[in-house]
Amino acid sequence: MERPLKKFAVVGMGILGKRHSNAQIQNPKAELVAVCDLYEAQMQEFVTAHPSVKMYTDARKMFQECDVDVAIIATQDPYHKDPLLAAIDAGIRYIICEKPLCTTLEDAREVKAAADAAGSKIIVAFSLRMQRCDRALRQLIKAGMLGRPLHGDVECDDCIYVPKKLWGKKSADWAKTSSPVYFLFSHAIDYLTFYLAPAKIQKVYAVGKQEGIGSYCDYCEAICTFTDGTVVRIKGDWTRKIPTLTENVITLTFEDAGVIYTRQPALGRPLMRLDFEDGEKMERAFAFLEQEGYFVRKIVDLKAYCKFAIEMYPDENLESYAASSVYMLDYLNDDGFLGLPECICDLDGGLYQVEVVDAINRSMETDAPVYL
Ligand SMILES: NC(=O)c1ccc[n+]([C@@H]2O[C@H](COP(=O)([O-])OP(=O)(O)OC[C@H]3O[C@@H](n4cnc5c(N)ncnc54)[C@H](O)[C@@H]3O)[C@@H](O)[C@H]2O)c1
Repeated sequence: MERPLKKFAVVGMGILGKRHSNAQIQNPKAELVAVCDLYEAQMQEFVTAHPSVKMYTDARKMFQECDVDVAIIATQDPYHKDPLLAAIDAGIRYIICEKPLCTTLEDAREVKAAADAAGSKIIVAFSLRMQRCDRALRQLIKAGMLGRPLHGDVECDDCIYVPKKLWGKKSADWAKTSSPVYFLFSHAIDYLTFYLAPAKIQKVYAVGKQEGIGSYCDYCEAICTFTDGTVVRIKGDWTRKIPTLTENVITLTFEDAGVIYTRQPALGRPLMRLDFEDGEKMERAFAFLEQEGYFVRKIVDLKAYCKFAIEMYPDENLESYAASSVYMLDYLNDDGFLGLPECICDLDGGLYQVEVVDAINRSMETDAPVYL
């Protein structure tokens, strides 16, 4: 495949497919060749505004007829497999798949076998890895600035508006095919393993409950034990009555520091704060972050229990992209990519995330721990 890769086709023209399509139309390094959805009505407005973009209702036909360098798959969570296989079978070498790779292990393994056999490279669009606070945290942990990870807690919730109304009349049907585990834990599992790599989750113990949405579960708590002994509880609830669409809060305890990362608080300004007992360790981490180009504040309060802290506000560390496929194209072309290489979730990372979700679901069903 000749670089630069440039020509895109998108399958699934819903919320995310339109976001990718609009971003690639605006991207001077890209050309959007074609879009596909099962329903013409989903694409009509877009192709009317952009008449050079071809419109298809069959992904296989589109990939066979169009000269495409990169395919983007943005169908709903359980329907990634067929368009992924259509792109692989058509010989497309680079595929960006919205998260998660698949919702069942069977589907994920079938996609992995087909992609490996055909030599297609799949990137799973776990875009939170590229947020600057997440990157800073990963770098601090990797550089040993926080000491050994011990344990933590992730709260990843949705407002009840999401399963009931986000997709209009289709919401109820959609919610029945998904759950907070598929929809929300997928992100949490991904960013926790991004932060704590090379450690991986080796045991899960989960409890879940249905609350009438019609999905597999509407509330779940999973205690995840990593290979290095770190234990993190992930909790997800999509029946919350909160003012924001989502609430996402991460707290992690390390030997030398505590992290509170309110990525998306229900109230107040998002913040990542690192508290230290030892002033020298805080100074070392602060200098490291400044040297890496992050905008951070030092807080010294001699009356506080932990006297030394670093604050990093996401809105002071912006590096926004119209869609994840924009920076992923830079990564694939090795042209101006600003992240760390590990900000890109590859096919094995996508498969691993499905394995953990599957283990959590089995643990909920059996009321027993499941080992990976
Ligand atoms: N909505 C969000 O905020 C968000 C955020 C991050 C990631 N994602 C992920 O992006 C993906 C898409 O989510 P969405 O919210 O855009 O969904 P959506 O329901 O708005 O859109 C999905 C579209 O795919 C189409 N489709 C389904 N199967 C198809 C097929 N075989 N061929 C062609 N078109 C097909 C549907 O008709 C629909 O228009 C999901 O995997 C989701 O988890 C969504």
